[in-house]
Amino acid sequence: MNILSVASEVYPLVKTGGLADVVGALPSALLPHGVRTRTLVPGYPSVLKKLKKKKPVGRFDNLFGHPATVLAAEVNGVDLLVLDQPALYARDGGPYLDSTGRDYPDNFRRFAALSLAAAEIAGNGIIPNWKPDIVHVHDWQTALTPVYMRFGPAPDLPTVMTIHNIAFQGQFGASVFPELALPPDAFSTQFVEYYGDVGFLKGGLQTASAITTVSPSYAQEILTPEFGMGLDGLLSSRVADLTGIVNGIDGDTWDPQTDPHIPAHYGPGTLKRRAGNRKALEERFGLEKGPGPIFCVISRLTWQKGMDLVAEAADDIVALGGKLVVLGSGDPALESALMAAASRHRGHIGMVTGYDEPLSHLMQAGADAILIPSRFEPCGLTQLYGLRYGCVPVVARTGGLTDTIIDANEAALSAKCATGFHFLPVTTDGLRLAIRRVLRAYNEPKLWARLQNQGMKSDVSWAKSAERYVSLYSALLAKG
Ligand code: ADP
Ligand code: GLC
Repeated sequence: MNILSVASEVYPLVKTGGLADVVGALPSALLPHGVRTRTLVPGYPSVLKKLKKKKPVGRFDNLFGHPATVLAAEVNGVDLLVLDQPALYARDGGPYLDSTGRDYPDNFRRFAALSLAAAEIAGNGIIPNWKPDIVHVHDWQTALTPVYMRFGPAPDLPTVMTIHNIAFQGQFGASVFPELALPPDAFSTQFVEYYGDVGFLKGGLQTASAITTVSPSYAQEILTPEFGMGLDGLLSSRVADLTGIVNGIDGDTWDPQTDPHIPAHYGPGTLKRRAGNRKALEERFGLEKGPGPIFCVISRLTWQKGMDLVAEAADDIVALGGKLVVLGSGDPALESALMAAASRHRGHIGMVTGYDEPLSHLMQAGADAILIPSRFEPCGLTQLYGLRYGCVPVVARTGGLTDTIIDANEAALSAKCATGFHFLPVTTDGLRLAIRRVLRAYNEPKLWARLQNQGMKSDVSWAKSAERYVSLYSALLAKG
């Protein structure tokens, strides 16, 4: 079975969050099932620079007014198709924002072009001798693909649309519609029209053959007004086609026994060696040496991620004898609040602003617990890395965090299956209470080691979830 996967980011070429990790890791988990994936991504400069061998395999003379080439390449076992279109992607700055942090004004065109290219590859033989059996698109940036397919080259080819985060919908003013190269019929509530605007995600959710999201709990939550962000009605009408499949992790990139980014390698039987990573972490963040748990945060600094709660609970962590290290960037107000906490508690709280992949590995390997107080969380990956690294997850009880972490309550402790701590409500007081529970457990070394070991033994691989995607793909093909 051949899949065309379409996304705006893929690890290790371009990453702003978990989407890249998932798009980069799923193809190799599908391969043992005979599912071969080719992944189409935009040719941002950072992507083109990292391609060692690339071969032109397709060409558009005029894609939204500009020529484009499709390059084939392989990176980390991912079979890539890169849309090289300098007019849209050769920019300073990131995949979505310019170097001053503003959205590129033509983002609608940049991602409509990616979606149209995918539809043409699927249905119009742009790549000689290759066609997918199914097209799998991720998030709003690629959500117009099934719409283009429906109105053009591949109306009957099955499509899967995965929602990684419904907060980002790709909503643009109606004035962009004439530029999208869609027939007038597409501007209706059955397709892209969304409260008088154009909704990319809306169009994809209306049109895709199947919809998935990245955990069973989030699949339930987005059917409610509280979490559906305006799309709960549409999703409820498609509930028969909606499934939640939890993310896994790339066990080669995230393996404490071999991780090149950490000084001391360890496994479930050799947890004591984590001390070497703790030492490196203390030095990196200028922490005083001493007992007590080190909490870490590795996150986009946003309201979704509950970073205001961390800033407010920071004094309590220190008062209770803990330490805190934060790596992240995002909302400037949250950045300053966390930086202020770090300057109030030099030696006890450390903060690095920015994006640092190697440091994120060291933190998982050296800290004792990872705080994830998200207000909503479709899946979350940092708690899965925490499990694998013996860095006990402390999570808000929401979305994928609920599905992947087993709270250390009495029942779970006596069944010996607890792997972390849940808290609710998602407020500063809720987080404070969770921190107290963590401190109590940390002060019982046997209990703590059991939590770490149970976490390290949990199955965070892609194996089961890959099977679920394969069943979904097979069911779609069987429907014909
Ligand atoms: P989201 O995609 O919503 O940001 P996830 O938990 O799914 O949340 O994925 C976040 C990914 O980005 C993880 O791989 C995490 O380690 C990484 N990450 C987040 N912030 C940083 C940072 N400042 N530096 C390095 N990695 C980060
Ligand atoms: C999104 C979500 C996150 C999820 C990731 C990968 O960015 O916010 O919860 O883990 O996508 O699916």
